[in-house]
Amino acid sequence: MKSVNIGICGLGVVGAGTFNLLFTNRDTVNAHANRDLQVSRVGARRDNPACDLGNTVVDRDVLAVADSDVDIVVELIGGTTIAKELVFKAIANGKHIVTANKALIAEYGNEIFAAAQSKGVQVAYEAAVAGGIPIIKALREGLAANQVEWLAGIINGTGNFILTEIRNKGRAFADVLTEAQALGYAEADPTFDVEGIDAAHKLVILASLAFGMPLRFDAVYTEGIAAIDSVDVVYAEELGYRIKHLGLAKRSEQGIELRVHPTLIPESCLIAQVDGVMNAVMVKGDAVGPTLYYGAGAGAGPTASAVVADLIDVARSLDAPSDQRVSHLGFAENALNDLPILDIKAADTAAYFRASVLDKPGVLSSIAQIMSNHGISIEAIIQKEPHADEDHVPLIMLTNQTSEENLLGARRDIEQLDTVNGKLVYIRVESLHD
Ligand code: HSE
Repeated sequence: MKSVNIGICGLGVVGAGTFNLLFTNRDTVNAHANRDLQVSRVGARRDNPACDLGNTVVDRDVLAVADSDVDIVVELIGGTTIAKELVFKAIANGKHIVTANKALIAEYGNEIFAAAQSKGVQVAYEAAVAGGIPIIKALREGLAANQVEWLAGIINGTGNFILTEIRNKGRAFADVLTEAQALGYAEADPTFDVEGIDAAHKLVILASLAFGMPLRFDAVYTEGIAAIDSVDVVYAEELGYRIKHLGLAKRSEQGIELRVHPTLIPESCLIAQVDGVMNAVMVKGDAVGPTLYYGAGAGAGPTASAVVADLIDVARSLDAPSDQRVSHLGFAENALNDLPILDIKAADTAAYFRASVLDKPGVLSSIAQIMSNHGISIEAIIQKEPHADEDHVPLIMLTNQTSEENLLGARRDIEQLDTVNGKLVYIRVESLHD
């Protein structure tokens, strides 16, 4: 059996997990690869007590790994500074790359793939999206016969963990985030999780694989979960919905919608039951119909599982001619299509509104009139009784599916009514049915 030399760069949660998995499952891994996968080098500024490196050569300067005799550089540093330098240097030196770095692929993937293509090396990135779920392989290979119509995913474990704890235990936002950091789920900068940037990185990658287009991180509409109030979680449930932080990519005749935002989804939908740090991605293909992929989206074991699967794929096809390998984005490079990305105003969704309104005759009819003026139908409505000392009451409305432009117009006009207090809460609703 031929040996393949691997250099692991970065020895954090995922780096240590990958090193350990290659050791503990060595026979299984080698049997799949038909190669002997050897970690011949580690690049890390410091050791990690979670793994015993034994006699492995360690470079404190991670860039030195790109100059060494390894066949594959595994980039598990994260971020877009040293990691980017390492990846371009390693490619220039003819090394294959395995990475878990969603920010790097989402923001610089087009250049990285072009560089790799010109050097005839592979860049594998299964671990960049949804941790241990093999969603990249599913899109790139398993669903290759389909025109993907849309995909929707819970693709940030930290955000889902926070929303789940708020719903189930009424815990405070900051408290849950601290726990997610301690468990190693959150990004180095946790605002990436909370503000939806991490999910946007992952969505861009999924959309490129689904629709055969270059990576367009610049074009994603992103809203985080920090403004979600626990009362909306409760009202959503009364209406038969759960609030999830979703990444959505949809194809229409006009172009592609790419958006990350809190979303009400029907409780009856399987993906609504995905709780805690778990991730799930739904993909609707024209031939296969709706499909669902579920698993742990973060953590040492699940992410290492995806990294090592990539190592097996890359090691197995090291000697294959490049036109016999699966292309970086699944489609042949010359078949990629720079599809237009639609503005959020062109999105077509239903909406959940919560207003604080004066409890007096005529208020409801003036709001209904505004909805009607904007061509919006109210599908459900809840009005709570006032507390003894309050003159305002919460009014919750669920609309039909219409354009974002109509919904925002109605919100603006309702907020201008004297009988309405402050801003409206506005959360998009997706049925995920067709
Ligand atoms: N911070 C990410 C998450 C880690 O919470 O999903 C995995 O990408």
